[in-house]
Amino acid sequence: MSTFRIAPSILSAKFDKLGEEVQSVITAGADIIHFDVMDNHYVPNLTIGPVVCKAIRSLTDAPIDVHLMVEPVDRIVPEFAEAGANIISFHPEASTHIDRTIELIRGCGCRPGLVFNPATPLSYLDWTLDKIDLVLIMSVNPGFGGQKFIRSALDKLREARKRIDASGRDIWLEVDGGVKVDNIAEIARAGADTMVAGSAIYGSDDYKTTIDAMRAELAKV
Ligand code: DX5
Ligand code: ZN
Repeated sequence: MSTFRIAPSILSAKFDKLGEEVQSVITAGADIIHFDVMDNHYVPNLTIGPVVCKAIRSLTDAPIDVHLMVEPVDRIVPEFAEAGANIISFHPEASTHIDRTIELIRGCGCRPGLVFNPATPLSYLDWTLDKIDLVLIMSVNPGFGGQKFIRSALDKLREARKRIDASGRDIWLEVDGGVKVDNIAEIARAGADTMVAGSAIYGSDDYKTTIDAMRAELAKV
C-alpha cells in the first residue's frame, strides 16, 4: 500500500476557534477534513450541520468527508452537497432505501460512502460495492470521540479489503475510532488506506508532530 490519507475529525477540535483548527491540521499535513454529523436520534449526541460545512469550505481546498450519523439520511444530503461536501457517507441502518440514498449522493455531485458499525455485517456491500466510492469501518460505536479501538475492526478491514480488491474499483477503505500513532500501522496492515483520527490529533500538543509520527508508522507498512 503506497498511499495513505490522514483525516482529522474536527469533532475533537476546539470549537471556539474551529476555523483556525481546520487550517492548523491542513498546515500540519492532513489530507482530508472528517466532518462528523450527529443528530441526537440515530446517535446520542448532537454536533454540526451544513452551515458549518459551508464555513469550513471557504477555508480549504482539502476534501471534506461528511460522516452522517443521522436518521433519516436523504433530506439532509442535498444541503451538504450545496455546502461543499466532497464525500458523504451514511449508515445503512439509517436509510430506508440504501440504493436510493447512494444515487442521491452521487446525483448531488458527491462521492458516496457506506459506514459499518462494529456489529453491522459487510453483507450490505453485496449489492452496493459497484456504486460506492468509500467503505468506512467504525472501530468504535458511533457518537463520541475518544473511545477505545475495538479490535474486531481489524478482521472486518481485512474482509472489506478483499472485497474492494476483488471489485477492481477505486474505493477508499476508511477506519474511524480510536486510531492512534501506536496502532495506525497495524490498522494499515489490515487494509485501511484512509485514517480518521480525532482525539489523537486534536488532543495532542502539536498536530504536525502527531501527523508526522503517524506517517512514519505508515511508512513501515
Ligand atoms: C465517532 C466519530 C469519529 C470520532 C473519532 O462517532 O465518527 O469520527 O471523532 O474520534 P477518535 O479518533 O477520538 O476516536
Ligand atoms: Zn466519524
